[in-house]
Amino acid sequence: MSTNDPSKLLIVDDLPENLRALDALIRDDKRQVFQASSGEEALTLMLEHEFALAILDVQMPGMDGFELAELMRGTERTRNIPIVFVSAAGRELNYAFKGYEQGAVDFLYKPLDPDAVRSKVNVFVTLDQQRREMRRQMEALERSRREQEILLRELNKTQEELQRSLRMRDDFMSLVAHELRTPLNTLFLETQMRSLQLKRGNLPAFNPEQMGNMIKRDERQIKAMIRLIDDMLDVSRMKSGTLSIRPGKVELMGLLERVVSDLSLQAAAANSTLQLAIHAPVEGVWDEFRIEQVIVNLLTNALRYGGGGQVDIAVQRVADASCGSRVRIDVRDHGKGIAPDFIERIFEPYERGAKAGEPKGLGLGLYISRQLATSHGGELTVQSVPGQGATFSLLLPCVELAVPAPAVSA
Ligand SMILES: Nc1ncnc2c1ncn2[C@@H]1O[C@H](COP(=O)(O)OP(=O)(O)OP(=O)(O)O)[C@@H](O)[C@H]1O
Ligand SMILES: [Mg+2]
Repeated sequence: MSTNDPSKLLIVDDLPENLRALDALIRDDKRQVFQASSGEEALTLMLEHEFALAILDVQMPGMDGFELAELMRGTERTRNIPIVFVSAAGRELNYAFKGYEQGAVDFLYKPLDPDAVRSKVNVFVTLDQQRREMRRQMEALERSRREQEILLRELNKTQEELQRSLRMRDDFMSLVAHELRTPLNTLFLETQMRSLQLKRGNLPAFNPEQMGNMIKRDERQIKAMIRLIDDMLDVSRMKSGTLSIRPGKVELMGLLERVVSDLSLQAAAANSTLQLAIHAPVEGVWDEFRIEQVIVNLLTNALRYGGGGQVDIAVQRVADASCGSRVRIDVRDHGKGIAPDFIERIFEPYERGAKAGEPKGLGLGLYISRQLATSHGGELTVQSVPGQGATFSLLLPCVELAVPAPAVSA
């Protein structure tokens, strides 16, 4: 009920002519008057409406005005309705109405004095309007308090996020510096060694075999830096939406065999073996370079975080209603796994679980990999039970959906 709604008044009398007379006295366009010819009828109306005032005739057959007031007092909804009893002066006044504590009880005496009736009713109507206005203000106050609470919570959250991203940016900067510094240091040391050898005239140190080894070492350091910079470039392309996928015909098993063989030295250094399950050739139309990037990321992670055990790679076809079948590549390690509260965060950029002394990366690999999977129309998901390793699954899209191209054949 709003403050502008008319105040509702209830008049209760068994005589219709009394009701009519009273109604005419108190009605105006800001009030709504309800009539009841018995206590029962009055109670029914009170349950349906919120009254500013009930004017009760004391003398009624059946339930009289005082009995009706007693009943009103017993019910929560009607307890606080102010009452004005209409009584034949002198007689019923001896009847003390007990127990109505609200103080909102008054009397009018017959024969009714129109001015007295109007001014009493005016007082109660004004009280009702003030009460409603107060309630409205209290509600508005409560609403704005709740809104403020929500805003404050949001503000705190944003502030925390801001601080977290500032911390991450700082960590990231020092990490990048460190990650670039390491291969650069190695290269710098190498050049110093070589210039020393030259100065000393130690030419055998530059024989073809030694030179070959030097080049390989240099290439490793340079590749590490290129990878780092490429990852950062990929992230900024992904953020600006400018990374494009260039699909072409790919045979997946051949690609996997090649990657596994390329990473065999790294696997041996991590005391790991990469085990690719045998499967018939799987042809499809995907961006080979990007698929390889995802697989390399997953395998590098499995070697880094897999605790040195065997890493299994398996390819399988998954039934798909829209195109017959899709292709899924699972990379499973037997390392320490990933804690449930960290599992979705690992796909966020710069999220790294590595603690001091553990292998370091920039925390970009999985972010990039998932983005590449989704830009292909595929998915990258993970399942892990802490202590029992992790399985990363790359689900490639239906070939027909990737580009209009020849269908996959097993
Ligand atoms: N196979 C895995 N087992 C356990 N934890 C993993 C595994 N793969 C990834 N993680 C966790 O997820 C984090 C994020 O991985 P992600 O590949 O994105 O970054 P990174 O390996 O730390 O660095 P980058 O890949 O950029 O060199 C890792 O730091 C690691 O804590
Ligand atoms: Mg990684």
